[in-house]
Amino acid sequence: MHEIIGALFDLDGVLVDTAKYHYLAWKRLAHELGFDFSESDNERLKGVSRMRSLEILLEVGNRTMNLVEMEAAAAKKNEWYVEYLHTLDDAALLPGTKAYLEYLREQKLSIALGSASKNAPLILEKLNISGFFDAVIDGNSVSKAKPDPEVFLKGAAALSLAPKQCMVFEDSLAGIEAAKAGGMTAIAVGTPELLPGADRYIRSLEDMLP
Ligand code: BG6
Ligand code: MG
Repeated sequence: MHEIIGALFDLDGVLVDTAKYHYLAWKRLAHELGFDFSESDNERLKGVSRMRSLEILLEVGNRTMNLVEMEAAAAKKNEWYVEYLHTLDDAALLPGTKAYLEYLREQKLSIALGSASKNAPLILEKLNISGFFDAVIDGNSVSKAKPDPEVFLKGAAALSLAPKQCMVFEDSLAGIEAAKAGGMTAIAVGTPELLPGADRYIRSLEDMLP
């Protein structure tokens, strides 16, 4: 039995309430393209890369685009998303985020970020939580999107830990699959209905506090 001495955190929807801004920006793009995009469609976008998200969105709207159009649409969505990010402050931290990161630090666990987002550095800086992380692996440093385990394997390696020594906190199905494929303990922020296959379910990091 390996002791868990490392924590790998997804960002959007686990540490910070940005999942709603991703949704608003994608919905705005869908409306501009002339179709609706529901919250349940949006579940499929959680945890996956920006371009893969756009592919899924186009599938939902039954649209096609060439690569140049796709790049322009993804850039537009990101501009809207980044506009929302500039309004972020501490209030966007999800319940228990700071207290649990502080607790893990006291307990001497190693901490890494494992996010698909290319905006992760901006978000960490805006919320002033960069200092908690021994390593940051994000959309700028991975080539294979979740459910591929690359992001978490790189996180464990950056902490010099074996996957079995790490627990992963995730709010997306792709992320839970990535954690399990990587051989880590998967803790889902959400329900077994939305996120089957995790080792444990919590509502927020507040549930992890002693
Ligand atoms: C993940 C989100 O954290 O990051 C996805 O759950 C998002 O919804 C992905 O598509 C990529 O984010 P960004 O900020 O690089 O567009
Ligand atoms: Mg997430």
